[in-house]
Formats: sequence, structure tokens, C-alpha cells
Amino acid sequence: MSHDTISRRTLLIGCAALATASPLTALAQRAGPAIHVMKDPNCGCCSAWIGILENDGFGVTTEPSAGTLLMRYKLDNGIPQEMVSCHTGSVEGYMIEGHVPIADIRRLLAERPDAVGLALPGMPYGSPGMGPESEREAYDVFLIRGDGSTEVFASYAAA
Ligand code: CU
Ligand code: CU
Repeated sequence: MSHDTISRRTLLIGCAALATASPLTALAQRAGPAIHVMKDPNCGCCSAWIGILENDGFGVTTEPSAGTLLMRYKLDNGIPQEMVSCHTGSVEGYMIEGHVPIADIRRLLAERPDAVGLALPGMPYGSPGMGPESEREAYDVFLIRGDGSTEVFASYAAA
């Protein structure tokens, strides 16, 4: 796909202001994998998601990116345009797009499917870093295959 075909609408997907992180568990017990996250420095919901990962033991590094540059990074790394969210992580060779729950990342790393990674398109309310889970809206986490096709990896019902 040519980058010129990226619609402006997609670039306008923003981040919800000041989403609060769900209550964090006491202490990270296990050393987690290293994940590198590209994020808009002005977006708070990514930081909330990162905080949840760090609390679970992930070693998180971040890199500021935004707008067209960040969109290009996503597409260049195999994330289909319809799967796009705000931040983009990479962990052990997999891409993690958006507010993907930790359990799904850990399952991905345990099962190691032949895939690009996981995506939670948009920013569903109540997903990690996007407000209280007790008010969660229903959403699906998708597995992205190398050919750009996707399949449901995990489904979360509305709270
Ligand atoms: Cu977000
Ligand atoms: Cu964000």
C-alpha cells in the first residue's frame, strides 16, 4: 500500500484524554519481557497502558512518534489500517497495537504463532489504560497474520 493512500481520517484517531489506569496490583513478581513502545508524547492513555505493563514486570522503553510518522511505522510493520489504535509496541518480534490486555500478550508469547502480532483497534472504553474495567464495552483482540488477514484472538464481553 502506498503511504499516500492513508486517509486523513485514520490519522485523526486520537487518544482519549486522561484515561485512568485500573487499580494496579501490589508488586510485579516476575521479570517480564522487554517491550518497545512508539507513542505520541502528548497522549496520556498510552502512558496508562504502559504503567499497567510495567507493574506486571514488563521492561518498557518508549520512543516518541506521532501523526504520519507513527502511522507509517504501523503500516510498515504489518499492521493493517483497520487495526490501528494509538500506540504501537514491539515485543520479542511481535507487534502489539493499542490497548491489548496483558493476558493476551503473555498468551501470544507463550504460544508463539506465526503472526505479525496482536491488535486492539480503536480505543474501546474499559480496555487497559482506557478507564475502569467495570464499565468495559465489548471488544475483540485480533491476531494479525503475515498476509494482513486477521482473526479474533480473544473476546471481551461488556461489563
Ligand atoms: Cu490509547
Ligand atoms: Cu494513547
